[in-house]
Parts: sequence; structure tokens; C-alpha cells
Amino acid sequence: MQSRPSNSLRNMVPLHFRGVPRRSRLLAVAFFCACLIFLLPRTDLGVASTLGFFFFGPDFSGGYGSKASGVDILQFIDPLIGTTNGGHVFPGATLPYGMAKAVADTRSPGENAAGFVSDDAPIIGFSHLHDSGTGGAASLGNFPLFVHPGCPADDFAKCDYSVNTRGTDRVQGSAFASPGYFSVNMTNSVRAEMTTTEHTALYRFTFPGTETVNVTVSEDVAAEVPYSPLLLLDLVDLSNSRSAGRIQVYPESGRIVGDGAFAPSFGQGRYTAYFCADFRGAAIRNSGTFSTNVAKTEPKVLDSASGVPLGYGSTGAWLHFERPANDSLLARVGLSFISSEQACQNAEREVPDFSFGAVEDRARDIWREKLSVIEVDATGVSEELQTTFWSGLYRSLLSPQNYTGENQLWNSTEPYFDSFYCIWDSFRAQHPLLTIIDPEAQTQMVRALIDIYRHEEKLPDCRMSFSKGFTQGGSNADIVIADAFVKNLTENIDWKTAYEAVVSDAEEEPQQWGIHGRGNLESWHKLGWIPYDDHDTIGSGPMSRTISRGVEYAYDDFCIALLADGLGRPEDAAKYYRRGGNWVNYWNPDQRDVYRDEAGEVVQTSFAGFMQPRLLNGSFRYHNTRTCSPIYNTHACYFDTGYDTYEGSPWLYSFFVPQNMASLIKLMGGPKRFVERLTFFHTSGLSYMGNEQGFLPTYQFHHAGRPGLSSFWLHSYIPSLFNATVNGIPGNDDCAMGAFSAFAMMGFFPVAGQDVYLLTPPFFPEVRIRAKQEGKWAVIRIKNFDPAANAAGGRAGAIYIQSARLDGRRYSRNWISHDFFVTGGVLEFVVGERESSWGTRPDEVPPSYPTWEDKEEETNGRKEAEDAVPTLDRDIFDGGRGRGGDEGDDLRH
Ligand SMILES: *[C@@H]1O[C@H](CO)[C@@H](O)[C@H](O)[C@H]1NC(C)=O
Ligand SMILES: *[C@@H]1O[C@H](CO)[C@@H](O)[C@H](O)[C@H]1NC(C)=O
Ligand SMILES: *[C@@H]1O[C@H](CO)[C@@H](O)[C@H](O)[C@H]1NC(C)=O
Ligand SMILES: *[C@@H]1O[C@H](CO)[C@@H](O)[C@H](O)[C@H]1NC(C)=O
Ligand SMILES: *[C@@H]1O[C@H](CO)[C@@H](O)[C@H](O)[C@H]1NC(C)=O
Ligand SMILES: *[C@@H]1O[C@H](CO)[C@@H](O)[C@H](O)[C@H]1NC(C)=O
Ligand SMILES: *[C@@H]1O[C@H](CO)[C@@H](O)[C@H](O)[C@H]1NC(C)=O
Ligand SMILES: *[C@@H]1O[C@H](CO)[C@@H](O)[C@H](O)[C@H]1NC(C)=O
Repeated sequence: MQSRPSNSLRNMVPLHFRGVPRRSRLLAVAFFCACLIFLLPRTDLGVASTLGFFFFGPDFSGGYGSKASGVDILQFIDPLIGTTNGGHVFPGATLPYGMAKAVADTRSPGENAAGFVSDDAPIIGFSHLHDSGTGGAASLGNFPLFVHPGCPADDFAKCDYSVNTRGTDRVQGSAFASPGYFSVNMTNSVRAEMTTTEHTALYRFTFPGTETVNVTVSEDVAAEVPYSPLLLLDLVDLSNSRSAGRIQVYPESGRIVGDGAFAPSFGQGRYTAYFCADFRGAAIRNSGTFSTNVAKTEPKVLDSASGVPLGYGSTGAWLHFERPANDSLLARVGLSFISSEQACQNAEREVPDFSFGAVEDRARDIWREKLSVIEVDATGVSEELQTTFWSGLYRSLLSPQNYTGENQLWNSTEPYFDSFYCIWDSFRAQHPLLTIIDPEAQTQMVRALIDIYRHEEKLPDCRMSFSKGFTQGGSNADIVIADAFVKNLTENIDWKTAYEAVVSDAEEEPQQWGIHGRGNLESWHKLGWIPYDDHDTIGSGPMSRTISRGVEYAYDDFCIALLADGLGRPEDAAKYYRRGGNWVNYWNPDQRDVYRDEAGEVVQTSFAGFMQPRLLNGSFRYHNTRTCSPIYNTHACYFDTGYDTYEGSPWLYSFFVPQNMASLIKLMGGPKRFVERLTFFHTSGLSYMGNEQGFLPTYQFHHAGRPGLSSFWLHSYIPSLFNATVNGIPGNDDCAMGAFSAFAMMGFFPVAGQDVYLLTPPFFPEVRIRAKQEGKWAVIRIKNFDPAANAAGGRAGAIYIQSARLDGRRYSRNWISHDFFVTGGVLEFVVGERESSWGTRPDEVPPSYPTWEDKEEETNGRKEAEDAVPTLDRDIFDGGRGRGGDEGDDLRH
């Protein structure tokens, strides 16, 4: 998804300094490698293997990843990438798919969806549950801790408690993040560090140890306070959505337990979260509860259910400590979605001894192990690009979150994952990436999706915090399930129920199709399109997005056909293949691309034929082809804004026919015209890489026999839009942007739902991916890697594949199938500075699945006539307006 524009924070210049110098050591290694390249003879094994042998001697077993080479790839992961500029990345401490996600929360309205933002807003707390990269409201952020080094006049009642006033600036440039670890220094002298296990966050707060500390009270008044830390735990969440709640502090042990009911950030309903906090390092002087800024020693329990009033907003418990013996205080916060008891058990089991170092080391080991399935030879590749690559991979593993054993909605022996946020974003790159690098996790996620169907009537399209999120387009879990099926993820997946689930999406309209399933199914089945003026008698939902929902429903149906085919249901398959062709019903061959230029002149490009809305009676309705593109009325198209596309223009959606690019290319006037049109899409500003729909059009040149142009555009977008700076993601991450850049840099990209990966030269001399078959690797290598190619933005360097060999045999298709990642093999490219004939012939492009042969002939006949030289019709205003009401120039042809 795309986050709606927020406010001026977008334009803020971030301050960002990395905490640990790592450059010098790496530079030395890189220099050594560079020298060796020139000294060593080139063998058929390639430079990389030779280097490996030289570096590691006879023990070298073919790997040069983290362990073998002694270079720790965690050094190349900067979780702070994407923490400004709308990236909404969670940069805190967590494990892969971890439920516990600890970070400092900043008061950055509109930007702090994941808690922390690299800006200069005050820090309002340290909380333990978050989502990464999302485009909805600020998510989770429940039960923040906050620490004062002391209170004015040594009086706990004079400390600041409320989230509205306690905010304290960070020491600019002090935030540091690394997998499993986050730290930041506060201007009140407190240094906060955090690390996590699966369900527990562990914090270490360190104090300067001086008699007194100078602090800012109430965010503006300076005061000198005696050193005696006060810690508070607030029942508030990031979006201040709590209704019910309970908190209790035990005065002797200092344990604080509690819960709260909160609203999800992009969905319906409520969820309950529980915590159990314990502390070590200092003796307790006093304890109590607070509401806004009023703190008392009694009562020790606040409970919305017991009649003791529990204020809305900031309310919680506090502990006033003596000076910590070692000037540091440890806080262990166990989490659960089942009960406070389970939260305590989680904490006691996972962090029995409060050992910060041990928890941190374990987290780092888990990340290293998780990422060890990929190895790269980075000879000649800048540190920045390596950081872009590994950090993108890392972010792809932050969500969905593993809530197995913590499902508050139903008891099941199946895994439970949450934060599918949203599948509309993640089906395109993230889930296919997990299928390759972590098939066990992807299998568990598919099983979780099926279990959600079992218990909640439908597969989710968007889901967070045990709640149904809003459906942006189609029922795209159908694609995730088909993708898993065609790639043979079989382990314990109940395909019978999976099939039932996707058929339910296709056939049975739910009452509320804004939160799952599909709408307007009667017309979809009968007419083959969603009419603009449809009367939906079955269910209700935002009656907009008829084009974008239509092309997505068509692709979803096509994916169901693949599944039906594979499950031996030929009749169903035929039906869904046919519906998979419904996209063509939106194709208005007469629609021209007409717009008003900067001077106010009406201009028409030469491109004809666009996806357009249709009425019940079959007539096309006009929708400006550019509305909701970056260059025209960008933010007009959401659920509720009445337009026929969602977060994108008809220009964009006219390319969304992954099931049948061959027919689309014909409709667009043949490969040459198609390439001109797709090139115009990228050069004119119509393309937007900050949303996931931008991914596939970067690669669709492949289908027209021009794989080199896909490589060209990848090189012009990486690193210019995807890079290692703190604002280095073009839109909110969704755990998907990083998957895109990771795929692109490894040299292939999935057509999600199909067994197809489009090939381009990797950004490394060699990439190795551990294959599913024990001991095998899928290796992608450039024989004559050109380091200059990465830096030239596509303008120069050897970025074009000239020839390829797979396991030594000539390979001319510009795509590859999943068995490469199952059985392993060596795919070797020779690259050059000019496009070549490699992968250009009709039998070398990816497959298309024609499903509407008769219509095609009919349309072709019509198209012939369209090819007459277009004339600009200036009489195109009819004053009509979209349901969005503000379509301004309604440029029709
Ligand atoms: C943060 O605080 C620690 C001491 O608590 C200090 O060693 C470190 O240099 C500080 N870092 C920054 C960037 O201020
Ligand atoms: C606090 O500020 C006062 C006045 O600026 C100064 O004299 C004192 O040394 C400061 N104390 C600490 C602990 O920094
Ligand atoms: C203080 O540090 C010492 C040495 O590391 C350790 O043995 C002791 O347990 C610590 N004390 C507290 C209260 O954490
Ligand atoms: C799951 O089972 C436990 C133990 O029988 C029960 O206490 C709990 O209420 C059940 N949870 C749900 C959501 O049904
Ligand atoms: C998810 O959590 C469960 C329970 O802790 C665990 O068994 C499973 O391996 C986890 N899945 C992944 C992919 O880490
Ligand atoms: C369909 O309805 C629209 C709007 O009422 C009308 O302008 C158009 O002529 C109709 N088309 C057909 C084919 O009847
Ligand atoms: C990094 O990416 C961001 C976001 O796409 C972009 O705005 C910025 O210009 C890029 N920076 C560099 C140095 O290329
Ligand atoms: C999946 O399994 C089938 C049957 O074993 C096999 O024919 C097919 O090649 C496999 N596909 C992939 C992508 O591994």
C-alpha cells in the first residue's frame, strides 16, 4: 500500500550517523580482493571460487558467506534505512518474523507507523510490539516504558508521566540499529538499549552515575534532579486507541502486569494484548499508579472492569528506584496475546537470567543463520550496494509475525501468523522471496492463511492484530496459495481446504467484502466485468476501483485455474482460465491518452487503448488515463474516493495482465509499440516505484523480447531510488520494497503465482542461494562482471546479457523456473554494453496463457482500423466528473 501524504515531516532533512565505524576494515578487504583479481589467472571456475580457495585454503567448501570469509554480513544490514521519507520501517530489535519488536517511539505524526522515525521529534517511550513498513495508521506500540534519571526535588509526583508531555529529545545521531539490537541516547542522560527473543523484549537503561542530572522538565523547563531513576509503564498505544485495560504493580518485586484492548491500525475490531514486566539492577524506593500527570502510591491496581476508573490515554504504573549499583537498570517485558500469565511465562522461559549480552548474541546468531542461505561474491561491489542488498533481505523477514501459540481467537494445532499487512503488497515479491530463502516459513504462512479461512470464513487480504484489514483490490491470497502450489511447497499444506478457500473467494460474495473476499460477484460471473453502475444485491463494500479490482480478480481467477489444473479438476480449470481472461473486458481500444500540459494545453500522446470502466449496458465510461499517477492527481485513488483504480492510474493498470502478456502486447500494437509504451511509462513520470504495483512493469520488457531494457531500468532505479541512506526507500516498505531490490540485485524476479522468474544480470559477480536439495546451491554468476555497471544508473557499463549457460549448456530463454532453486545449478552470464539478441525471440520469452481466443480475433479486427494516424480531438470536455468529484480535467476521447 501507499501511505497517504501526511505533513511537512516528509520534507524534513534527516540527520543520520552510523554508530560503529566499519569502513576501514572492509575497505582493506576490498582492496586486497581487487588486487587479487588482477594477479590471478582466470579459470573456468570463475574469479570468485579462485579467491575463495586463496583466502580459505583447502578447507574452503565452496562458500564465501559470513562464516567462511570471516566477513559478518550483519555489518551490511542497516535497519535505519527507510526510517524517514515515508518508509515506515521498523528499525528496532527483533527476530525473523518476531512478535517482540522493541524500539524507541517518536512523536512523529503520520510518520511513526512503526514507532521510530529518524527525525528530531521527541522520544515518548520504548515499546515492544510493532509492525514494519505499513501504510496505515501507527500500529501497535503498546505498553511503552519511559525512564527519568530522577525527579525534581526527588519527588516522584513531580516527574512527568503523560505521553503528551514526557517526550524527551534524543542526542542527535545517537540512534544505532543492527539485527537484534537498537540503542539511542536521550538528552536526559539516559542511554537506552534493547534486544529481544521471540516474545520478550529486554531493555538496558544506563545512567551517567553523577550525583545530579540536568534534565528538561515538561519539554521546556530545565531542572537539575538528583540521580534516582523513575520508570513508568503506560497502557497507551501509538494511536491512543485503548478502550479496556488493567495494570497492577507489585511493590516488593516491582513486577508490573497488565493488558489492554486496542484498535488495529488498518482494519476492524479490537484486539487484546498482555504484558509482564520485571526489573533488575536497583532497589525499589516506592511504587504506584498514575493517570495523565497525576501519580500516587495507591492504588497499586487499576482495572477498567473492577470499577476503579481507568482514564483514557496515558495511564499506568511506576517504580521509583534507588541508584542502580552498576548505573544500569534492566527491564524485561514478556508479551502475550493470551494472558498476563502467559506473558510472564514467556519472559521467564526466554530470558531467565536477564543477560542482555546473551539475548543479543542469540538474536544476532539467529539472523546470521537465517541469512546464511544466501552468499555473494561482492568483489568490486560498493559497500553501499551491499548494504542496500542485505538490508532489503533483512526487512523482508520482519513480517508476517509468528504468533503461533499466541492466537487469542481460536485454538488450533496449525501455525498462526499475523500482520499480513497487506497481501496486496506482499504477494508480488516478498512471499515469492520467502518461498526461495525460507520455504519452511512460507509453508507455515500458507498453512496459517488456510487456518484463518477455516475460522474466519475467508482468506485475509490484509490482516493485523487479529483483525480483518481493508481489502485493496482482489483476493490476492489466491495468488500466494497458487504460488506456493506451483513451487511445490507441499509439507503439511491442506490443498483440499486451500482450494475450497480460493473457490470461496471466487464464488461466494461475503456480506462485507471491504474486509475479505470480493464484491460485485454477480456481475463478475455474468458479465465478466464490474460495472461502474452495478447494483450489488449480495454484499457491500466501497463501490469503487472497478478497473483495478477487475484486473486483479481476473489474475486471481487465473491463479485458481493453475491450482485447479494441478489438483486434477479440468472443468474448474477451464472455468477459471476463462474468467482469467476477463481483463480484456476493460480494454477500450478507442481510449486515448489525453492530458493538459503545464501551459494548460491539451495534449494527446500516440498511445491508444487503455483499461477503462464499463457500465452495465456494456458501454465504456471515461476515466482519465493519468489520474493517480505521480504526475496527475496523485493521491486521489483510495477505497473510498470513488475512482475506478486504486493507488495507481489506468496507465499502470493497463499493464497488469501477468497471465497473458502476449495478448496484451498484441492489443497494444505489437512488441515494438508495447516497448515504446512501457518505455514512455518509465520516462514520463507515470511510473512510481514507491508502491508495489511498480515492480512488474519494470520487468515486462522481457515479454516483448527486450530483457535488456528491464536491466536498464533496474540499474536506473537501484541505487537512485533503493539505496542505503536513511531515506533510501521510495515508498513505505511493506517488507516488500526490500524484497524487490534483493531480487533485482540477485538477477531474477518472480511473476508471482506462476512458475516463472525473469532473468537480468545480478549486481554481483556471483550470487549463491542454498537450494532445497541438501548440499546443493543455485549459483548465478557473471563471467565478465563489470563493476562500473552498478554505478552508472544504466547509462553505461556491461548491464546486458549477451549469452547464458545453465550447467554448461547454452541457455537462451530470458526466464527460468523454480526447479533451479530446488535442485541447484550454475547459471552463468556473459554481459556486454549493448543489448544483444539473447532472450529476444518469441520462444525465449515467458509463457502466456491465452484464454479468450475468439475475443482476440474480434478485437484484432477492430484494432486494424484504430491504427489509422491518431488525430487530436480538442472537443473532449463534457464537464463530467468521476465519483471522486474532483477530477478537474475530464479529458475524454
Ligand atoms: C551514548 O551514551 C554512551 C554512554 O552512556 C556514550 O558512551 C556514547 O558515546 C553515547 N553516544 C552518542 C552518539 O552520544
Ligand atoms: C547542570 O547545569 C548547571 C547549570 O548550567 C551546571 O552548573 C551543572 O554542572 C550541571 N550539572 C550536571 C550534572 O551536568
Ligand atoms: C553489577 O556488575 C557486576 C559485575 O558485572 C555484577 O556481578 C553484579 O551482579 C551487577 N549488579 C547488579 C545489581 O546488576
Ligand atoms: C483454547 O483452549 C483453552 C484450554 O482449553 C481455553 O481456556 C481457551 O479459552 C481456548 N481459547 C479459545 C480462543 O477458544
Ligand atoms: C513460529 O513459532 C513456532 C512456535 O514458537 C515455531 O515452532 C515455528 O518454528 C516458528 N516458525 C518460524 C518460521 O520461525
Ligand atoms: C449505456 O448507458 C449509457 C448511460 O446511460 C448511455 O450513454 C449509452 O448510450 C448506453 N449504451 C448502450 C450500448 O446502450
Ligand atoms: C536514495 O533513495 C531515495 C528514495 O528513493 C531517494 O530519494 C534518494 O535520492 C536516493 N539517494 C541517492 C543518494 O541516490
Ligand atoms: C513439482 O513437483 C512435480 C511432481 O513431483 C514436478 O513435476 C515439478 O517439476 C515440480 N516443480 C517444481 C517447480 O519443483
